[in-house]
Amino acid sequence: MYKIFANTLFTGRQLVFVPECHSTNSLASELASKSVLSEGSVIITSNQTAGRGQRGNTWETAAGMNLTFSILLKPTFLSLKSQFYLTIITSLAVADFLKEQSIEEVKIKWPNDILASKKKICGILIENSVQQETIHQSIVGIGLNINQDNFSSPSATSLAIVAKKTFDLNDALNSLLEKFEKRYLQLRGGKLAELKSEYLENLFGFGKSQSFISNGKEFEGTIEGVDETGELKVSDNGIVSSFKLKEIALKY
Ligand code: BTN
Repeated sequence: MYKIFANTLFTGRQLVFVPECHSTNSLASELASKSVLSEGSVIITSNQTAGRGQRGNTWETAAGMNLTFSILLKPTFLSLKSQFYLTIITSLAVADFLKEQSIEEVKIKWPNDILASKKKICGILIENSVQQETIHQSIVGIGLNINQDNFSSPSATSLAIVAKKTFDLNDALNSLLEKFEKRYLQLRGGKLAELKSEYLENLFGFGKSQSFISNGKEFEGTIEGVDETGELKVSDNGIVSSFKLKEIALKY
């Protein structure tokens, strides 16, 4: 069903398509443990029946309508303390793709939800395996809503809804893989500062006062940035605190 014509060096060169699976991230991990999958291998399905999301959530997607796939990476060049850069490059690659498709108001909601006009259009789940302080394997799972025109959640959207047309899934995959590899090569080339500043430029609510919930309490704060480990730095009355994923939610 999928055919790679992307102009990439390694991303998508090896493609595993299964008509149905529970989770492409789980399948990628299973396959990588049993066989030799080269860096950039893509595991993709048309019908993901038990997709996994962040914070232990599930990822719901209509069969045959959207992109649900995982990219296997071997980022051994990346220090453990810089693993958040995998989140940065994946978010930027999806944002690059959406902007190229003329999707308006594309933003990254920390850490890696991708929004279009304030609604979630893409979710990312990155699972790293660490051995002796090295990230020897990373599975980058991407769920991008393409042609689904109906969601149970009012805060979800798709390319088809915002652009009012249908998209070719294979073209979208190829284009996204190109964007991904470009960003990954930037990371491999050590362009950390540039990547971080582009991530912040695209970060929803960066530098603006807005409402957050932490520890059951709502407060007004301002996103000041993210630290090296990916924690969100929020200032509240002049005091800057760092938050992990489970510690804070942005009201939007
Ligand atoms: C989230 O926003 O909570 C992250 C959702 C990630 C979904 C993708 S779909 C492909 C890959 N396989 C999974 O089981 N999850 C990711």
